[in-house]
Amino acid sequence: MIINTELKQNHNLFPGKVISFSQEEGKVNFLTNNEVILQVTVLKDSVVRFRYATDNNFEKDFSYAIENGSPKEYFDAKVEEHENQYSIHTNTIKITIQKDDLGTTIYDHHDNVICKDDLGFHWEQSYEHGGNIVKMSKHAPLGELYYGLGDKPMHLNLKGKRIENWATDQYAFSKDQDPLYKSIPFYIGMYEQRAYGIFFDNTFRTFFDFCKERRDVTSFWAPGGEMNYYFFHGPNMQDVVTQYTDLTGKPELPPLWALGYHQCKWSYYPEKEVKEITSKFRELKIPCDAIYLDIDYMDGFRCFTWNKEYFPDPKRMVAELAEDGFKTIVIIDPGIKIDKEYWVYKEAIEKDYFCRRADGPLMRGKVWPGECYFPDFTNPEVREWWSDLFKEIIDEIGVKGVWNDMNEPAIMEVPSKTFPDDVRHDYDGQPCSHRKAHNIYGTQMARATYNGVRKFVYPHRPFIITRSAYSGAQRFTSSWMGDNVATWEHLWVANVQMQRMSMSGMSFTGSDIGGFAEHPSGELYARWIQLGVFHPFCRTHSSGDHGDQEPWTFGEEVINITRKFVELRYQLLPYLYTMFWEYAEEGIPMLKPLVLFDQSDSQTHYKTDEFIFGNQILVCPIQEPNSKGRRMFIPKGHWYNYWTREFVKGGMERWVDADIDSIPLFIKEGAIIPKYPIQQYVGEKRIEELRLEVYYKLGNTETSRVYEDAQDGYDYTKGEYSLRSFSLTGKETEVIIEQIVEGNYITEYETIRVECIGLPFTIGKIEVDGVMVPFDTENNTLVIPKVFAKLHLTS
Ligand code: NOJ
Repeated sequence: MIINTELKQNHNLFPGKVISFSQEEGKVNFLTNNEVILQVTVLKDSVVRFRYATDNNFEKDFSYAIENGSPKEYFDAKVEEHENQYSIHTNTIKITIQKDDLGTTIYDHHDNVICKDDLGFHWEQSYEHGGNIVKMSKHAPLGELYYGLGDKPMHLNLKGKRIENWATDQYAFSKDQDPLYKSIPFYIGMYEQRAYGIFFDNTFRTFFDFCKERRDVTSFWAPGGEMNYYFFHGPNMQDVVTQYTDLTGKPELPPLWALGYHQCKWSYYPEKEVKEITSKFRELKIPCDAIYLDIDYMDGFRCFTWNKEYFPDPKRMVAELAEDGFKTIVIIDPGIKIDKEYWVYKEAIEKDYFCRRADGPLMRGKVWPGECYFPDFTNPEVREWWSDLFKEIIDEIGVKGVWNDMNEPAIMEVPSKTFPDDVRHDYDGQPCSHRKAHNIYGTQMARATYNGVRKFVYPHRPFIITRSAYSGAQRFTSSWMGDNVATWEHLWVANVQMQRMSMSGMSFTGSDIGGFAEHPSGELYARWIQLGVFHPFCRTHSSGDHGDQEPWTFGEEVINITRKFVELRYQLLPYLYTMFWEYAEEGIPMLKPLVLFDQSDSQTHYKTDEFIFGNQILVCPIQEPNSKGRRMFIPKGHWYNYWTREFVKGGMERWVDADIDSIPLFIKEGAIIPKYPIQQYVGEKRIEELRLEVYYKLGNTETSRVYEDAQDGYDYTKGEYSLRSFSLTGKETEVIIEQIVEGNYITEYETIRVECIGLPFTIGKIEVDGVMVPFDTENNTLVIPKVFAKLHLTS
């Protein structure tokens, strides 16, 4: 590992004095007398790119994190020259560049310093590999806090830590272990409630030091590639995440079933066992939408083949499962078995699609099938070939989604757990070694898989899940956190990881519910499912060698708890789908750590347990055995306890009861929460009615949205969607709900059932667009036509 201090003492080089600047196509280039260029590009008022070159020369501008390889939009920034510095102004920030040493400072328009270079850009020439070891150090004011960076299993706030990004297969990882499977070199800094973000778009092994080495310095560096980073100005933390997500890409909407509950194990086989599992879900009435086939469905772990002894007729089986509402998902790994009789192997050899070592031999490594070669997914031709391999699985057999595993890439029985550094990659026409391609290998595999599944599942929507990922992977795939462990500590880890992934642009994630390694107690499983249903991706998975992990293996009580919470998830599907739509459309993180939800309250800055699911539901898992409840922090404002409907004031800690069949759950006052009837799988029932739970609020108008469409397919992109925006105004003796509906999609249901919670008056009169409507006293609700502009309740 490179130690920054050592390097500093050694051969660091620094930019000299600026001798000229030039401007072209939105790029401002500052050239120094020792041939360093700083290129500043203003992409948006609050998004600026900083790119440095030494030797007066930039490499080709190319990034896997950004669609089409580089950002296309920019402003023509106005540069002013002053005595000692240059300045660039946007509508929200000012950037100064020192003539002396290229040092930069970014100010907001109140002249607050947001981000200031310490040593700034410096570098060391790499004798061993060529190119530079590129480094950046920033001044860190006392009290600055740091968040983000993807799957790190540690406290949300990264202050005082040194972090490494190098995708690693980390079986049974522990709390605080670093690095894990993903590399997301994006962090958020916050000082005096003002947040900004930095995305260091460099696919080499990257390091971030948050005041660990020096308490007033934050630095990041990489042993190769360019110093190339993007700065995002908030000051609102959510805007920082949104802008980062906008740059690195937003996902498409998944099919709605993908937001249902998924069941997995290593491995369900033969067919009889798969059917027993799926039938049991239906028998016990625990909703479930997807069943997974892990590596044993293959013939000798050869990808794109089937073990015909276990699965004699996969097409029939998949169709039968589909009739019962189950979508079949299969695993596909990158390692291709070296076997002269195996068609995938033969094709790849013939076309020369496998990765090679520096001197020419093919990259050979052991994975599940034994000795394997590995496709070079950084070659566009290989990705195209790979995508076509899915024809049979998807188009002919009817599998609905693909699970990409081991794509760090993981290699067994070698200390590095991965390819040696010298392996060659095409890198989309810019050949390089594994040092540069390692961190994006998994994403390029997931991208090729996505392209294949999308092509063959059309007109349906694809579903992909990956273990390894680099920034931007969210455009193609969901993800899970890899091989966690069935311990209480890992329940804590799962909670933190999912919040962190959400604030790092990858919301569609989940943990292996119950833990992958080892076996959970019934109590731990129950507590985990209570949290898991509030994660965007919700799947139970286990290694299977410590006993079974289906809900019924833990007895009656846990079955009932699982059913209760999975049912709640299915009821909340319109809420969850709307959250996803906001993420896909606007880049809004689906889970909001409290600091992101309310950064103005410093009490939220160190909170890790509580988070907001969407915009209006506060969740706080129980993370200890034998609990009857817990202390938790309720953010400012007023909230309703979901279970007891008690109205509570936030801004403080309080004890909340939550026996084994409950989890602390609060709804923000003024929220309108949409619900569907319980179904055993998405599409099982016609949705006869949309239920709205209205949580009364006195005063200011509160807005809630409900997005719906055909739940699959692409008609929504042509206007076939329905977006209801409700605004609720509560007064002492009346409530007004106004509705605006956009889009052409006609929802199945004709009526909306409204339940009011927390009303300080008894409803005397109900008017819908001026027409009186009766109250359903039996159900304590009112049923109104779905098309209305104004609902007026008075005492
Ligand atoms: C490792 C993965 O992380 C795990 O989820 C999977 O079950 C095994 N590989 C076997 O495929």
